[in-house]
Amino acid sequence: MYEELAIFVLAIWFGLPAWIANATPVLGGGGPTIDGGRFYRDGRRIFGDGKTIRGLIVGMFFGTLTGLFQTLSVPFLYPVLEEYVVVTPAMEAVFYMTMPIAFLMSVGALTGDLIGSFIKRRMCVKSGDPSPMLDQLGFIILALIFVAPLIQPNPIFTSVLILTTLAIHWMSNALGYVMGLKKHPW
Ligand code: CTP
Ligand code: MG
Repeated sequence: MYEELAIFVLAIWFGLPAWIANATPVLGGGGPTIDGGRFYRDGRRIFGDGKTIRGLIVGMFFGTLTGLFQTLSVPFLYPVLEEYVVVTPAMEAVFYMTMPIAFLMSVGALTGDLIGSFIKRRMCVKSGDPSPMLDQLGFIILALIFVAPLIQPNPIFTSVLILTTLAIHWMSNALGYVMGLKKHPW
């Protein structure tokens, strides 16, 4: 029981810099767009107004900062983890967050988000309109790919992280719908 819980928590712990990098641009976005207002050959914007240079910097900064806080808290949290489970090398690998790991995950998340927007524009989805899979999977998959040169977590952690990322988006959308903030539950 504790074992499963530890795997779940550690998967989220590992994904935290990517999540923060993906969630914070909305707080500090604005200013010049990444595509500079340019259009692709299909006549639509390359990325759109929702992708700004400031948003990239904000996401990279807070994602990496998250990693710094995680790195600093490992010595304090390790004994807590050890109290409940036998800490395996696979668990240690995802637990020992470093700033380079957090940085690569942040850049990967933001790149994945950009690729998602690029595909959305090609599919004629307007900036800001949802695209259920692209919005959630792009950033987390690219974060995992970018960080792969430094760490390849045991697949159990990556699967839990990907599934949790999808579940959280769906839950927050459903909640927004129930609360009357959103028109659709997706
Ligand atoms: N944002 C930003 N720069 C980024 C990513 C996001 O400035 N690189 C800001 C924008 O204000 C954006 C908001 O965060 O509107 C929400 O981000 P996101 O949902 O990724 O963008 P959307 O507006 O939904 O655009 P898209 O359809 O291209 O995903
Ligand atoms: Mg969006």
